[in-house]
Amino acid sequence: MRAEELRRSSSASSGGEGGMRRTNYLRDMSAPGIFYTLHPNLLIGLYRAMDVFWTLRARDARRSGEEIGFYEFGLFQGFSFWYANNLAYEMGMSMEFHGFDSFQGLPPSEVDIHRNWAPGNYACSLEQVQDSLTKWGMPLKFHLHRGWYSKQLFSTVAKRHALPVAGIALIDCDLYESAREVLSFLETLMAKNTILMFDDYNAFGGDSNHG
Ligand SMILES: C[S@@+](CC[C@H](N)C(=O)[O-])C[C@H]1O[C@@H](n2cnc3c(N)ncnc32)[C@H](O)[C@@H]1O
Repeated sequence: MRAEELRRSSSASSGGEGGMRRTNYLRDMSAPGIFYTLHPNLLIGLYRAMDVFWTLRARDARRSGEEIGFYEFGLFQGFSFWYANNLAYEMGMSMEFHGFDSFQGLPPSEVDIHRNWAPGNYACSLEQVQDSLTKWGMPLKFHLHRGWYSKQLFSTVAKRHALPVAGIALIDCDLYESAREVLSFLETLMAKNTILMFDDYNAFGGDSNHG
């Protein structure tokens, strides 16, 4: 399905006479050749986070020369990572981007049973993500880190890289267990005005034990 058809099918799902037709986003997102994967709410959220962050902190940090990181947990094909990188560049921010993923899709979950979240869903290899990012362009410096979220993965990465404090962290890894590992890692990178974004915050009606 081409991007134009995807747009048409998404807008068709917004209702009209005869009831609402639900779009199967997972099927549409996984169609070969489509890089666009996100719900517009997250795109708008990212824009707002960048805007707020820029106002609150980035100017001062730039003056003091402090490195700032954009961290993303859950890349799939890399679309939101690409979007945030280009947005930050367009807004004149200097940020270093770090993306973490298994590149094998979702792990099993004991607690989050959701029709889109079967093990292996959203699998996309690191090489494919790298190719897309190269094709569409990443103006700001970035690193991709492969592995299942765990203390061991995060400490290995932290030994290899001088990780900057987190300016914005996008947590888009769907599952409670994954988000829990990510949050304990992020504790070490939080600074004044760090913005945490949760794509799946409302997947179970805001339940703090899910999503
Ligand atoms: C919904 S997708 C991310 C969508 C992406 N932000 C985009 O722009 O389309 C969720 C991602 O989280 C990753 N993920 C979830 N739990 C993980 C874990 N415990 N370790 C590593 N990766 C994980 C999956 O591999 C998958 O790529």
